Amino acid sequence: MLKKIGIAVAIILVGIQFVKVDKNEAAIRDIDSFVIDTKANIEVQNILAAKCFDCHSNKTAYPWYAKVAPVSFWINHHVEEGKEHLDFSNWSNYKTKRKKHKLEELVEELEEDKMPLESYEILHGDLTESEQKLLIDWAKATILSY
Ligand code: HEC
Repeated sequence: MLKKIGIAVAIILVGIQFVKVDKNEAAIRDIDSFVIDTKANIEVQNILAAKCFDCHSNKTAYPWYAKVAPVSFWINHHVEEGKEHLDFSNWSNYKTKRKKHKLEELVEELEEDKMPLESYEILHGDLTESEQKLLIDWAKATILSY
């Protein structure tokens, strides 16, 4: 019985590898207008690139395990949901009011320690306190500049 279940699970695991997942892989990470518009300096850009753009831009740097189903389904769900809420690659299409609101949300998410998602932090690490502060200061200054 156990052997049969084992075989069935193996067949399912192999089978789901063929299910197509829509990857978030544009040729370039399109963040130029966002960087200019929010005056994100290189430090801010580096932190966002390391901890946020994977789920909030048009290009995810997929680690190898992200290619293996069912992990790929789960990661892509996070990416799709993340982008739906906030897409830095789509920044130029946001109206000023929306930009401000998104940056306010960003401050809130960081102050409440909600981003990056916990599951992401396991392998990518959390923001350090100084990184968190840098992002919050930049976001607040940008909100005031609009
Ligand atoms: C593993 C994917 C992932 C990573 C990495 C990630 N996010 Fe998110 N983010 C999400 C998802 C999913 C949501 C929507 C659900 C929620 O709010 O929990 C979200 C929501 C948000 C929102 C709320 C937007 C709104 O208007 O509701 C902000 C702001 C945000 N993220 C900022 C960040 C920042 C800043 C970082 C980096 C420090 C980051 N996120 C990293 C997946 C991610």
